[in-house]
Amino acid sequence: MASNGIIDGNHGSRPHKFDPNFTQNVINATGPKASPRMRKVMASLIQHIHDFARENEITVDEWMAGVELMNEAGRMSTDRRNEGQLVCDVLGLESLVDEITFKLASDAADAPTATAILGPFWRKDAPVRKMGETIVFGIDNGDRTYMHGRVLDYRTGEPIEGAELDVWHTAPNGLYEQQDPDQPDMNLRGRFTTGKDGKYNFYCLRPTSYPIPYDGPAGKLLQLLDRHPMRPAHIHFIVTAPGYKPIVTQIFDRNDKHITDDAVFAVKDSLIVEFLPYKGDPNADFELPYDFRLASYDDASKHSLAGTTEESASGFSGQ
Ligand SMILES: [Fe+2]
Repeated sequence: MASNGIIDGNHGSRPHKFDPNFTQNVINATGPKASPRMRKVMASLIQHIHDFARENEITVDEWMAGVELMNEAGRMSTDRRNEGQLVCDVLGLESLVDEITFKLASDAADAPTATAILGPFWRKDAPVRKMGETIVFGIDNGDRTYMHGRVLDYRTGEPIEGAELDVWHTAPNGLYEQQDPDQPDMNLRGRFTTGKDGKYNFYCLRPTSYPIPYDGPAGKLLQLLDRHPMRPAHIHFIVTAPGYKPIVTQIFDRNDKHITDDAVFAVKDSLIVEFLPYKGDPNADFELPYDFRLASYDDASKHSLAGTTEESASGFSGQ
């Protein structure tokens, strides 16, 4: 059988199973004022989604179940929960789009810090904190961790002054503060800005693995696919600096049991870290050294890094 539901080969004399002109008619309905990108992307989407329906002989009931799932995700989404994004995440779409957007043409060993998905729990305007402060409030049962390192130009190795680290992670109960009425607002979040030496340091917790929220459509999908909702323990970052391409990333605890089966497929080898036992600091039991490497816009465009204009990054560049 060929694609598009067209029967051929041994059955070449049979008519098309479905109207062979239908999809092209839908694509051709696009008007002359549609932008070239819109025209290209939507023609491709229509083609693929129609092929998908034909190849799987999707019924009206099945299609309607999909529509209802999207509607339910929309109804469930608020400024504290992004269910549509979560549905994409369990299908691997955000991780794939992240890879496409940030892939370097060359896989140099000294590449910038790899990116990972933003996920649905980032909040704008996390508190600005002083270097060396903690992001942990009202929690006394976590693995206290001293995280430190530098923000560097990946090409020159020079420290970057004025780089901002926006960090967030879950509490030991597996919940981000906006999911948990018992945590103070903006707990386990903070923004830190480097000085001349490019160094940063702060106190956080060694994170725990947690289930993505599975009381909505994303959870329903996982259940139907016989999959678990767990994410390996990770800390989220957005690192920005004037003149540099921002990175959205996560670092993952090597010893987490879900390190090889993340429910949203975000783990990359270069983002796996080791929490080290830490002696001599009354405020921390673990140490986590980690350097971030950023590409300047100049380097990024020279080396074919996609999405490298300051405009395209503006969503994370400012307050
Ligand atoms: Fe997360």
